[in-house]
Amino acid sequence: MKKLTLIVGVLALVVTSCGDTQKEKPATAPESMVKKEAEAAKPDVPAEEVTVTIKANDQMKYDLTEIKVPVNSKVTLTLVNEGKMPKEAMGHNFVLLKKGTDVADFAMRAIEAGIAKEHIPSGTETIAYTKLTGGGESVTITFDAPAKGSYDFICSFPGHWGMMKGKLVVG
Ligand code: CU
Repeated sequence: MKKLTLIVGVLALVVTSCGDTQKEKPATAPESMVKKEAEAAKPDVPAEEVTVTIKANDQMKYDLTEIKVPVNSKVTLTLVNEGKMPKEAMGHNFVLLKKGTDVADFAMRAIEAGIAKEHIPSGTETIAYTKLTGGGESVTITFDAPAKGSYDFICSFPGHWGMMKGKLVVG
């Protein structure tokens, strides 16, 4: 018997490795999360909030004749009527008037407006005003300070403005 020599041919397998050419992403830094709002912020600053309390009494007087507030402020004003008399007899309000208002004329028309309209005549002379208060009442209003300057305020109840008046000074 012939011995068969088996020649085993070994096939070398050439493994071709495919070039794993994963593209490297450029190493850019992530977008900055820093908000840029600060740079883009509007130049106007938030309004400063100011609180004012003014008292009125049965002697037909305010306790303040001058109120100072900063420019660009938001004013919260409380009128405290410390009197005891009813508003029909001794009502008080706080009426802030625009510049150039003829106060005597305004006061005259306030009388004509009557108590039903709380002695606020129709028109555009007011910057802000409270309702009419009787003794023991108080009322709060909020308004934006007008432009720098000085403004008249009065109580528009009939006959009061001669005694009950003052200046709001913005500046
Ligand atoms: Cu008054």
